[in-house]
Amino acid sequence: MCGIFGYAGPRPALPVLMDGLRRLEYRGYDSAGVAVWDGETLAVRKSQGRLDALARAVADGPLPGHTGIGHTRWATHGAPSGPNAHPQTDASGRFALVHNGIIDNAAQLRAELEREGVAFRSQTDTEAVVQLMAKLWRGDLVACMLETVRRLQGSYALVAMSAFAPGEICCIRRDSPLVVGLGEGERFVASDIPALLPVTRRVTVLRDGEPALLTAEGCRFFDADGRPVERGAEQIAWQRQSAEKGPYPHFMRKEISEQPSALRAALSAYTKDGALRGEALGLSPREARRIRRVVLVGCGSACHAAMAGRHGLERLCRLPVAVEIASEMRHRDLPLDERDLCVCISQSGETADTLAALRLARGRCRTLGVVNAVGSTLAREADSVLYTHAGPEIAVATTKGYTTQVLVLTLLALGLAGMRAGEADAQERAALLAGMARLPAQMEALTEGGEAVRRMAHACAGRTSLFYMGRGVDYAQALEASLKMKEIAYLHSEAYAAGELKHGTIALVEPGTQVIALATQPALLAKMAANIHEVRSRGARVLALAARSLSEGLRGEADEIWTIPDTEPLLTPLLGIVPMQLLAYETALARGCDVDKPRNLAKSVTVE
Ligand code: F6R
Repeated sequence: MCGIFGYAGPRPALPVLMDGLRRLEYRGYDSAGVAVWDGETLAVRKSQGRLDALARAVADGPLPGHTGIGHTRWATHGAPSGPNAHPQTDASGRFALVHNGIIDNAAQLRAELEREGVAFRSQTDTEAVVQLMAKLWRGDLVACMLETVRRLQGSYALVAMSAFAPGEICCIRRDSPLVVGLGEGERFVASDIPALLPVTRRVTVLRDGEPALLTAEGCRFFDADGRPVERGAEQIAWQRQSAEKGPYPHFMRKEISEQPSALRAALSAYTKDGALRGEALGLSPREARRIRRVVLVGCGSACHAAMAGRHGLERLCRLPVAVEIASEMRHRDLPLDERDLCVCISQSGETADTLAALRLARGRCRTLGVVNAVGSTLAREADSVLYTHAGPEIAVATTKGYTTQVLVLTLLALGLAGMRAGEADAQERAALLAGMARLPAQMEALTEGGEAVRRMAHACAGRTSLFYMGRGVDYAQALEASLKMKEIAYLHSEAYAAGELKHGTIALVEPGTQVIALATQPALLAKMAANIHEVRSRGARVLALAARSLSEGLRGEADEIWTIPDTEPLLTPLLGIVPMQLLAYETALARGCDVDKPRNLAKSVTVE
């Protein structure tokens, strides 16, 4: 949701900014812009559309200079257009600002400034901030930024330059991510860590409300009152290649293939010699035994991971589990008390609604983050964090982020169950752990895809609608599979708990309707076979996805059967989703869609 990149150092700034923005384009891509200090003026270039449009604009008139800021936008206030692109400048053109987030009181600030005679040129909330900075300027960029943010309500990552403070870049954040990168003799600022990996692995994640000042000479950090403070840097272990496409045509294809190694990384973080590392779960046995209910919260795929993960918690821990959509929970009056465990799930750790749900729960019950992005807001604000170890995920549609979330939730269920039940059900837990250890190898072959997937994708590509159905964990899989198809192939699809179809939706089934039935649960096979029969007898074509040993039971029921290796029933969502991701991917290709950057979307939804 908007990408920010800034540079101060000896190199020409423009190419560094453009490279940085390319790595952040997944966060928003409806317009882009840069501002570079050329020694005399702040030169600004902006374009509507993707970064390529900006690249063409700057190729015509390159901007010299060694300090600059850039932005790639996902519009919130004001349509995607040149004037609404960032950097936004004040009326005099002496201040330039890029912003990620939403300023809730922008309309009041704008009205106030307009009454004082300030002329606005965009519809953005950001322009109100930069115009305010110009008004509050007293000769010091950090002081000006602090004075400005005191007047702001909302969320922001702000990076500003001024012709009055040559060579300086001031950065500040509240509830939107911003990371400073400390290179050899050069400094960077970016919206996320992967964008910094090709230039430096030494990073400092900014704290809310505390500014940093970057120059070619160094980086200084300040507290919220503007007093200088020392801030250490973290060394990031992620490999640079993990944020690059390599030989793959798309990041999404690469990330689908990376799922076995992502699962291996998560397993080695939480297990050792085939046993759980108890201490890694962040809860003591006493805390585990006190829990009376688990609330799982997330948005989109993270919520689907919660729906898949709930089954392990219910089955192994015998605990009631509530699954909450974060954007709903934050506005509900959900009773929570000290015996609840609230688990907030997020790949980015920056999703605004999930953070709001976390803040609602914090102080009322124990909170736990299941997070991929190291150092993200959710990871820092939750009482404890379980990292999912998926590595950087760049494609907008999540794949390895989702599967590692399901895995970590299942590990959490195992760990909690062990601490609560002692030796009871130890055999079932051991079987599950052994099943987990086999998963990466079982998944390898599935990530290859193949002719059957491509053939089905071509058939789906010509349709206007699809139905997915499943029961239990397969219902969660169906929702996730359907979301993938919608978001990257722009193909309408519905996912149903298979038993619900006949309560209304089956009216939509007619001769030729394509239904994808997920049937990986032995205990539910007969019910699924009956549901498949119901839709087929109304003319639907059915593709069934089944665990290998169950496929015989569907022979003659479905038109086509795909199989996944046999595993523990709680683990099938981890294998079954892979062919579904590939089906969406191949369908998107067949429909000519931009797989990594689907329309209207952004990777990290940092606004409500
Ligand atoms: C779908 C997808 C989204 C995210 C959702 C939450 O492919 O990626 O539905 O799952 O926006 O994002 P995080 O996990 O970063 O909180």
